[in-house]
Amino acid sequence: MKMIQAKTLSAAALAALLGLTPLAGWAQEDHGEEDSHAAEEEHADASHAEGHTTDYAFSFEGPFGAYDQFQLQRGLQIYTEVCSACHGLQYVPLRTLHDEGGVGLPEDQVRAYAAQNFEVYDAELDDYRPATPTDHFPANTSVGAPDLSLMAKGRAGFHGPYGTGISQFVNGMGGAEYIASILTGYTGEEKVEAGVTLYENTAFPGGWIGMAPPLYGEDVDFEDGAPNDIAAEAQDVAAFLMWAAEPKMMARKQAGFTAVIFLILLTSLLYLTNKRLWKPVKKGGTTPAE
Ligand code: HEC
Repeated sequence: MKMIQAKTLSAAALAALLGLTPLAGWAQEDHGEEDSHAAEEEHADASHAEGHTTDYAFSFEGPFGAYDQFQLQRGLQIYTEVCSACHGLQYVPLRTLHDEGGVGLPEDQVRAYAAQNFEVYDAELDDYRPATPTDHFPANTSVGAPDLSLMAKGRAGFHGPYGTGISQFVNGMGGAEYIASILTGYTGEEKVEAGVTLYENTAFPGGWIGMAPPLYGEDVDFEDGAPNDIAAEAQDVAAFLMWAAEPKMMARKQAGFTAVIFLILLTSLLYLTNKRLWKPVKKGGTTPAE
């Protein structure tokens, strides 16, 4: 049985690599398997070891995907108004909010945003002062919540099958999907364990998370009138955190694309050169050197 599984698996993997199967369809099959797995596990043991991540369609996915500037701006607003109460972003410089391909706020707005929302400790003044674009987002350890600067790259939403990483090859690492799934994955159940309140969450590994549901829908009002139901908010803030973790994604994709074009060109030239060099030999004549 194991052998057969392994064989069909590697056949599917090969087919996927060669682009023979519709990838999305195959990926869904894989999800289905995970679902039934999760269900089995739930039966066997109330603590579901692996969480369930929903595969959201983010604008930045795929080789030509790009951040949606307005989505990032909405995400920034959600982070500022909700998440920053507990979570820091200490590795993200405030000035990068101005960067193209990212949040893209005008410089004066970045300055105003920094000054209005954050205070930083200045060693020279020996006092707190309003933040400026040259500062980073502050750290926040008040309730022991993890820093979110690299969270979208530190977590994987997709796994397997069977430790092969094919799901990640097809669907991406899924850090942003994982965050959005956490924010929408609360079941409403709570329990107190060793004096700590835990909240049941279908996306969190182990099934119980120490973060109270931060979003309920309509937590913020967007200036552009974009929907602020919980699913939309969760995706907006997840996209923003993806940008925070990988602000240069667009540049990286462009460089990668240029490299691929260059390699294709180089390969065809080398192929033609090779053909030309060997032509006389294959015909039984002399080499050009002679
Ligand atoms: C009331 C405080 C509080 C607020 C507000 C809050 N969080 Fe949390 N968050 C926590 C705590 C505490 C943890 C650690 C939970 C744990 O490890 O069980 C956490 C953990 C997390 C994690 C990590 C999950 C993991 O895999 O370890 C993510 C992602 C996260 N929060 C995102 C957010 C986002 C996005 C927001 C804003 C929409 C937010 N949080 C708002 C307290 C908060």
